[in-house]
Amino acid sequence: MSKSAEELAALIRERAGAAAPAIGLVLGSGLGHLAEAVAGVAIDYATLPGFPHAGVSGHNPKLVIGELEGTRVAVFGGRAHYYESGRGDAMRLPLEVLNALGGQALILTNAAGSMRPDIPPGELMLLRDHINFSGLNPLIGEPTDARFVPMGDAYDPGLRTALKSAAHAEGIALEDGVYAWYSGPSFETPAEIKAIRTLGADAVGMSTVPEVILARFLGLKVAAISTITNMAQGMSDEAISHEHTKAMAPLGAEKLERILRRYLRG
Ligand code: HPA
Repeated sequence: MSKSAEELAALIRERAGAAAPAIGLVLGSGLGHLAEAVAGVAIDYATLPGFPHAGVSGHNPKLVIGELEGTRVAVFGGRAHYYESGRGDAMRLPLEVLNALGGQALILTNAAGSMRPDIPPGELMLLRDHINFSGLNPLIGEPTDARFVPMGDAYDPGLRTALKSAAHAEGIALEDGVYAWYSGPSFETPAEIKAIRTLGADAVGMSTVPEVILARFLGLKVAAISTITNMAQGMSDEAISHEHTKAMAPLGAEKLERILRRYLRG
């Protein structure tokens, strides 16, 4: 039986306590272990009707609610991608639940390929903007006028400044750039990478953009950080694979955790 976001939020409050999480965090491929940094209650997606099965290896399909550096957070250990189901709104219910729990902001993380030689594998990139290269939209079918979401400052300027300061304080380079969403699950061709590079993209990946659109629709502030796991197709001789993504993500994950901890400490 399907449940509404409000019903799921009530269920989660019963298990994890009533205090609202200030921030939601979505963990990307190979970044699932960040959920273990949080002291709190872990709830399997499988026990939350309507939550995605998050069947991509390298993800950890649990919602962890608890404290990280004194801030109450809701960590989504796995995400659903468009390419798993053909549904662009696959993350709508989890984000609605974050909203129903009283969350104010969302920090998304992902693994991505870089088109910027100065942001090589192992580095992080803070998203400044995106290009929806897939042409899909998670709000297709949404009947209300709220679907006409402005995307001018989709990546919250205040959050971006705060995350940059946190990175600086940790001595970690955090360049910003434009992320292009390509649907996947096949990787891009060299010609596709050349095209999006020419169009102004700095990194490419198969997630995040639908979640940014949904989160702005819900009124959440948004920030997103990519862990660069490879140079995009055609930009280096290194072979691209999901195995490689999972193997490389932990390189950036350690830095990401330090930035997030510093940011949450305030
Ligand atoms: N392309 C798309 N998605 C990715 C990549 C890439 O090169 N690397 C990690 N996720």
